[in-house]
Amino acid sequence: MEPQYSPVLAIDGPSGAGKGTIARLVARRLGWHLLDSGALYRLVALAAESHAIGLEREDGLVTLAGHLDVQFIDNGEAETRIILEGDDVTDAIRSERCGDAASRAAALPGVRTALLDRQRAFREPPGLVADGRDMGTVVFPDAWLKVFLTASAEERAKRRYKQLKQKGLNVSLSALLEDIAARDRRDASRSVAPLRPADNAVVIDTTALDVDQVTQRVLALVSASGEGQK
Ligand code: DC
Repeated sequence: MEPQYSPVLAIDGPSGAGKGTIARLVARRLGWHLLDSGALYRLVALAAESHAIGLEREDGLVTLAGHLDVQFIDNGEAETRIILEGDDVTDAIRSERCGDAASRAAALPGVRTALLDRQRAFREPPGLVADGRDMGTVVFPDAWLKVFLTASAEERAKRRYKQLKQKGLNVSLSALLEDIAARDRRDASRSVAPLRPADNAVVIDTTALDVDQVTQRVLALVSASGEGQK
């Protein structure tokens, strides 16, 4: 049987560039599936914590990553519910601590390899919007459209600050800026799948753009390519 054609729209970029929000809006608009690959790295970090496996233990983390018992439940709400080993961890994986641990786990080559098939399994008709760091370079190098969203570190820290404040969390802007800069350095300098735009990616600097403007730009790229209307 012929495999069904499932185009991939890869949306990569650094932390806080707005990828998650844009990927979700674009996926909804197109009626496509959504892969939040960062959530998988966050889940590995959270599972490691609950099983008391240190982040320096690559073998243990690789085993966890290969056997993650996770469900993504999309109820059409603003957020997909994420269930890890029976517990709803939708909010727990979004903490700064979990993001930092995820970035450390993500620097381990074995962990990245262990998550490859799981990520590729999200590619199903009619199409997939994949959000991450290496969607266009490693996981879906044949993606039909590759977008790299970026913004200044200051702007990304400000956006994160607003988000966390809205959730009632007490955070300092300068600490967030430091965290973002440290995570950028780690994500961009690791030996496997470092953060960088794919050669054929369209780079969009979102520093001075709002969510609606970025969504419109991405959708314009989609319709210019003729995809999404099939
Ligand atoms: O997008 P995010 O903040 O949820 O991702 C959490 C961490 O996971 C991030 O610091 C880098 C890592 N990550 C990655 O290495 N590759 C991906 N495709 C997605 C995330």
